[in-house]
Amino acid sequence: MMIRPRRNRKSAVIRAMVEETKVTTDDLIFPLFLLEDPKAKIEVNSMPGICRLGIDHILKEIEECLKVGIAAFDIFPVVNESHKDKMATKSHDPNFFYITALKEVKKRFPEACVMTDVAMDPYSSDGHDGIVDENGKILNDETLDVLGKMALTQAEAGIDIIGPSDMMDGRVGYIREILDGNGFTETSIMSYSAKYASAFYGPFRDALDSAPKSGDKKTYQMNPANQREALIEADLDVGEGADFLMVKPALAYLDVIKLLKDNYELPIAAYNVSGEYAMIAAAAEKGWLDKTSAMNESLLSIKRAGADIILTYFAKEFAKNKR
Ligand code: PBG
Repeated sequence: MMIRPRRNRKSAVIRAMVEETKVTTDDLIFPLFLLEDPKAKIEVNSMPGICRLGIDHILKEIEECLKVGIAAFDIFPVVNESHKDKMATKSHDPNFFYITALKEVKKRFPEACVMTDVAMDPYSSDGHDGIVDENGKILNDETLDVLGKMALTQAEAGIDIIGPSDMMDGRVGYIREILDGNGFTETSIMSYSAKYASAFYGPFRDALDSAPKSGDKKTYQMNPANQREALIEADLDVGEGADFLMVKPALAYLDVIKLLKDNYELPIAAYNVSGEYAMIAAAAEKGWLDKTSAMNESLLSIKRAGADIILTYFAKEFAKNKR
């Protein structure tokens, strides 16, 4: 045998030397769930190890994360039912606890990169990302107006990256124009470009209590069967001024991550979603999987597929393990 691939695996040093992919804390964005009560801390049942936090705890959490090298956060609000309505009015109320908390975060940690989500679901009494009419139809163009107001309110709070996750047609361009028209030319947009109608968002909807009250999200989120359709979405987002293209979920869609990486020059992000976290965390609790190795392998695979950036609930744990 002239060729023996095992020679390049014979020691830890050589294995590290020939390693093609490395995940670093620089690649990660940590999603956080914000509660209205500043002092509250409640674990998400379906996400062992992940808590919903009031602003007092969020500030502590961010401080701890910065120390271990996690510097980017995606903050989602947990909205009480009493604040929800059909038009998601609270989503663009500058006095709502979410917006005041975001301002506090940016004031305390100007160096942290803070991202927010633009979609109606956390604030909508229908639990949908867009406006629902009397027949249960999701109204695309009417929703754009709400999304624009939401994005502007978040930009005014000093947010670094706006993340439209609603999958309405035309939203990226609509939001870009509103931001630019109001002087927020430096506010970035990370578009949820290829966002699939996935079962893996279940634990997130538990965390936010944001599941649709009726129907599903299949008229706006993509069909998991489709790959080429992701190119249509990505083309539009590039043309409409997105700064990053995101694929979501990540692990079941590694082919889509690779497809976008091969076809676009913009940085590619992947969202390692709540259900992907829950599967590993739950199996680990039962002693069926080693959590750290399964986490490392998942993140590595997402990066190997072509993701430059990974949004993951494992961010802090990964960073602490690296030390
Ligand atoms: C809101 C939104 C969702 C997620 C991120 N933004 C849920 C959904 O679209 O139903 C899911 C994130 C996760 O599961 O971790 N539109």
